[in-house]
Amino acid sequence: MSTEEGDEEVDADEVEFPDRFHTREFALDPYTWYRENLRRDRVSYDERGGYWNVFGYDAAVEVLTDPDRYSSRALGEGGVLFEHTMLSMDPPEHTERRGTVAEYFHPQEVDEHKATVERRVDELLDEALEDGEFDAVADLAYKLPIMTICDILGVPRDEWRRFKQLSDTAVAGPISTGGDVEALEETRQQTVLESGRALHEQLMRKREEPEDDLISNVLEKDHGLSEYELLRMLGLLMAAGNVTTTNLIGNAVWTLLEHPDELEKLRDNPERTGDVVEEVLRYRSPVQFTGRLTTEETTLAGENVDPDEHVIVWLAAANRDPEIFDEPDEFEPGREPNNHIAFGRGPHTCLGASLARMEAEVAVRRLVEQTESWSKVDEPLQPFESTFLYGVQNLPMEVEL
Ligand code: HEM
Repeated sequence: MSTEEGDEEVDADEVEFPDRFHTREFALDPYTWYRENLRRDRVSYDERGGYWNVFGYDAAVEVLTDPDRYSSRALGEGGVLFEHTMLSMDPPEHTERRGTVAEYFHPQEVDEHKATVERRVDELLDEALEDGEFDAVADLAYKLPIMTICDILGVPRDEWRRFKQLSDTAVAGPISTGGDVEALEETRQQTVLESGRALHEQLMRKREEPEDDLISNVLEKDHGLSEYELLRMLGLLMAAGNVTTTNLIGNAVWTLLEHPDELEKLRDNPERTGDVVEEVLRYRSPVQFTGRLTTEETTLAGENVDPDEHVIVWLAAANRDPEIFDEPDEFEPGREPNNHIAFGRGPHTCLGASLARMEAEVAVRRLVEQTESWSKVDEPLQPFESTFLYGVQNLPMEVEL
């Protein structure tokens, strides 16, 4: 199914954020709306919502790389999910907090986990491909990232389902509460508490019986974090480390199903997998937007912006900016340059970018290697239920082995 062909005019007033996420159509295809805004209002003030929207690439990068003028506090004030985590801190506090775990996500460190990820993918595929029916999200993309981050943290294998359910609820959007934003925030608060309790059990266990994993190592190094700060950090790694990557893997398979020519090229040249993943990040960015708060009066793309204004940076729109990317709505693995901002930019650039890339590359490569052909099944796709994440919940396909 192709969700974004056509270039019809859209009345932006009818489809302002976040209403658009209340409908299946918009959740599956926000790109028509982005295109319209990129053409018309690359940086604009949303009167109804009372915040700035940034769609253009240059302005997006300007905001993300200037924490003095654009504070990440916005992400902590927006709700309980990211409050008191590195994501909602500014330098120098942010630099210090990020520094306590950065070493575990360096590319060389991530490489150490590759063999385990390959083994996990093979196990998942062995199990799922056996009965002839395959759903790339339910059988593979949903499970792999949570298993991987649990492995890295040192959370036992039988616990992954519990943590996955918690993080699914934590990032769910207003559809889950019938549009009731207060109920949504309450559910999030309960989920964050419950996840804190579950992680606390793991901390206690690691204090008693340390092993060679992230939690044990962080405890041993004792960075002077309080128990609460530690739990918030682990909660962020757990949540950020799985739902986003689920969508990257799902979006990669979804996009290849829509582009059989690219799938064939990949079969002939598996070394293209990295390029495919990179282009999926640009073309169907798993994280659609992030937010900042202005700290002073400033100018952005010629607009005067007051202090204490919320700014929404539409990463996914910037990644389709025609001023930066040739034929931005075309899926072209290997395009040069491909300087997308799917992982953000500046001091908060995704800590798990190497890990996400590695997981997605292994998953896509193994799926291609272990199957002769794939084709779409004619079943409606359900969008991933979240305001800021983009992907599908189901991806049934026919595969020949
Ligand atoms: C495809 C998968 C992923 C995408 C698209 C993604 C995207 C992002 C983006 C856009 C940001 C920056 C947000 C901002 O500037 O406000 C971010 C930050 C972050 N990501 Fe990821 N992420 C992914 C996977 C992961 C994984 C696997 C981890 C593993 C732990 C992770 C951990 C983090 C952390 C800790 C931060 C906060 C960094 C900071 O504040 O300094 N992410 N991610």
